[in-house]
Amino acid sequence: MSGWNPTALPSQAGRTIVVTGAGRGVGYFTAEQLAVAGARVIITTRGDATRALESLRRAAPGADVSAVTLDVASLASIRAAAPELAALGPIDVLINNAGKTSGSKRREATVDGLEIMVGTNALGPFALTALLWPALADDARIISLGSMATRLAKADLTDLQGERSYSTSRAYALSKHLMHAFAFELDRRLRASGSRRMSLLAHPGFALDGSASRRPGVTDLASPAQRFGERLLRPMAHGKDRGAWPVVRAATDPDATGGQFFGPRRNVTGPPVLTTPVAQSAGAAFGAEFWRLAEEATGVTFTV
Ligand SMILES: NC(=O)c1ccc[n+]([C@@H]2O[C@H](COP(=O)([O-])OP(=O)(O)OC[C@H]3O[C@@H](n4cnc5c(N)ncnc54)[C@H](OP(=O)(O)O)[C@@H]3O)[C@@H](O)[C@H]2O)c1
Repeated sequence: MSGWNPTALPSQAGRTIVVTGAGRGVGYFTAEQLAVAGARVIITTRGDATRALESLRRAAPGADVSAVTLDVASLASIRAAAPELAALGPIDVLINNAGKTSGSKRREATVDGLEIMVGTNALGPFALTALLWPALADDARIISLGSMATRLAKADLTDLQGERSYSTSRAYALSKHLMHAFAFELDRRLRASGSRRMSLLAHPGFALDGSASRRPGVTDLASPAQRFGERLLRPMAHGKDRGAWPVVRAATDPDATGGQFFGPRRNVTGPPVLTTPVAQSAGAAFGAEFWRLAEEATGVTFTV
């Protein structure tokens, strides 16, 4: 597993890779690195994908890149996008990157009435993966985006919807605990069924747009206030291009196996290496309970 060079990836020619939320941020750079390596990349965006597609084509001339509209905070949007994506399959890698990373202090809900962080970051990806299941290749990889935020707050599965008490940061941490739980529970279920598919987890460390290589129309979307805030944080962070490295490694390292977790070597920055998740959301009981709650909340049955 040593000697991984994130700037010299194994050829991805012949592989079809879906990256959600790839109009900007870590998702964009994940898509770009995979397109440069020769993959056929399908990005999903909530809004107009033109600028991201133009940028991908500049970075990877001749690459096969396309876009599908998807709002992971809407079960109707997921149900509409899934057959569109399936028609482009079989999908070799599904990267559940789209995520809500900040929000208002007050509890907000998705159009389906789910707490917005948990609905966007965990329940949407759960439903999307379930609905895309028949369209995945026999040896497909499913990559979930985790976070070090799981180290900052314990998860309370008895208040999934944040109805008893609410803070944005706790809701975000819970949503990421749930992504960890999803990745590891999916891995357990895949192994139990003897499947060749693999579920892996990756986290970008602490990654900023302003520290990344410039991509007009993609990395320059922040407001002046956000840009100023980012400048203060730069010394302890790396760019979202480097933040994509662990995700890309999870998707492409031929030696990677299901249940592994990649992140930057120094936790917040550094080259992509294997890392250890917090114990709480990695366990089997937590994972099984998440699965039950996710099926209940989304109305989507997910049989592996
Ligand atoms: N950056 C970090 O330091 C860091 C650390 C740990 C984990 N992560 C995780 O890495 C992933 C990417 O983070 P990032 O830093 O790239 O965040 P970002 O710059 O805020 O980008 C988030 C991406 O997700 C999309 N998105 C948000 N809500 C969506 C929805 N309802 N439906 C579809 N797409 C949606 C956004 O699309 P729009 O353009 O439409 O908003 C955007 O493309 C997230 O899962 C995040 O939790 C990031």
